[in-house]
Order: sequence, then structure tokens, then C-alpha cells
Amino acid sequence: MQIINGLAVYDEGNKDNRPIIFVHGFPYDHTMWDSQFEFFKKKFRVISYDIRGLGKSETGDGQYTMESYVDDLFKIIEELNLDKPILCGLSMGGYISFRAIERQQNLFGGLILCDTKPQADDDAGKLKRAAGIKLINGDGVIKFVDGFVPNTFAEESKSLEIYRITLDKCRMQNPIGVKGALIAMLSRTDTSEAIKNFNLPVLSICGEKDALTPPDVMREFTNKIPNAKFAEIPKAGHMTPLEAPDLFNKILGEFLDNLN
Ligand code: MLT
Repeated sequence: MQIINGLAVYDEGNKDNRPIIFVHGFPYDHTMWDSQFEFFKKKFRVISYDIRGLGKSETGDGQYTMESYVDDLFKIIEELNLDKPILCGLSMGGYISFRAIERQQNLFGGLILCDTKPQADDDAGKLKRAAGIKLINGDGVIKFVDGFVPNTFAEESKSLEIYRITLDKCRMQNPIGVKGALIAMLSRTDTSEAIKNFNLPVLSICGEKDALTPPDVMREFTNKIPNAKFAEIPKAGHMTPLEAPDLFNKILGEFLDNLN
């Protein structure tokens, strides 16, 4: 692990291989990509990091925006001197990815969008985030996490050990970082128009049982991206890389093998 601009950054695999950056979702940390790191580091340079305020990255003042999250990603790319990295983001990591591509798509060689969507929060979504912040202030982050994280896994996946491990990790997150992420998400811009101008290869991956960004939502926006493919993972919820790592890696591997 190395620290770049206050962020905990993980960088494995041969430095001469093509880089892939994995951006985690909320309220997780980089370890949600452990299976992908192990699998893809044989052929790629794999990079991940803890989003500011989460995991082992600095919390600072907790005042984040989607723009500052994208600035952090760009800083990592610059510091590691990465040439045309492939970007793979899940959910909130996807929001960061949509905006990063909208800002500077020439930097990237490909995009994988996992269980995410380009639309900004509507009013109901914003109010839900505000209620989450109130809950953390009143009852603590564990209460919030215990209400939020179970919805991100399919019922069938809740007997998996990884579910318990993930829940326990999320319960340890810093409340200031979690509240900062809620504000960054509720104040993010909408990238649904920008996706029509994405001109790099894109793969969308969605869990069949994803309750937050269901397959019909993902299929619809994927159809608007010029060079995009869609894949659905049976029985998985919102956390496809954790719930179905083997199939996820196979689908992602096939996409990567076909990139120039
Ligand atoms: C995530 O998995 O990153 C979150 O579900 C995103 C969100 O709450 O919008």
C-alpha cells in the first residue's frame, strides 16, 4: 500500500502490463475487489484505492463532492503515470467513473460499469440520503450500515461468509467519511446525456437481483452508449464481484481479452 494525496492506494501485478483501476462502492473499501485483484493481477497491473473518508484513506474535513472524488482519481493516475488505464467502478465507484469519463475520456482505454447508473439522485433519493445523515448523527454509523448494506446483497447471498465480513467492515467506517459520501452522492451531477458521447469500449455488468440498480435500468442506459455491451449475473444482487466472483471474473476477462 502507498499513500497518494492522503489516499490508500493498492498497486499489484507487473508494472508493464495494462493497468486496470477498480473503484469501490459505498460504504465499502478497496477490499471488495480482492477476488478481482487475485485473478487479474496475473495478466494486468491492478490498482485500487480507498475513496477519501473510507477504509484507510484520510477523512479530512468530510467535505467531499463527486468532483473532488474524480480529482482524487486523476491524481492517482498522474502519480502512478498510468497509460490509458481501464476503469472499473461499482455503484458509487460507477458515479465517479461516469463523471471521470465525461471530464476526460481520452485518459482511459475502457470502462466497466457495475451495478450503477448515470442518473443523479431525484428528490426522494436526496431526502433518503438526508435521513441517513440524521440517523448516523442520532444513532451512529452501525445503525445506518445495518439498514443499508443488507439491501445491497441478494437474499440468497446472505448465507455467504463474505456477506458477514463485508457488513462488519462497513460497520467500522468513519461516520464523517460515510456522511461525506452521502452528501457527495446527493449533490452529484447527472451524466445521462454525456454517456451518448462516450467513445471507448464499455461493459455494463448487473446482478439479476440488484434492488438498487436493477437490470432493466442498466440495460436502458447501456443501450444509449455507442460501444457498450451488457451482461447480467444470475441470482446476484448489487454486489456482483463479491456475490458471484467466478462468473464476474469470467465476464470481465472476456471483455478485457477483446480490448485493443
Ligand atoms: C453503492 O453501492 O455505492 C451505493 O449503493 C450507491 C448509492 O447509494 O447510490
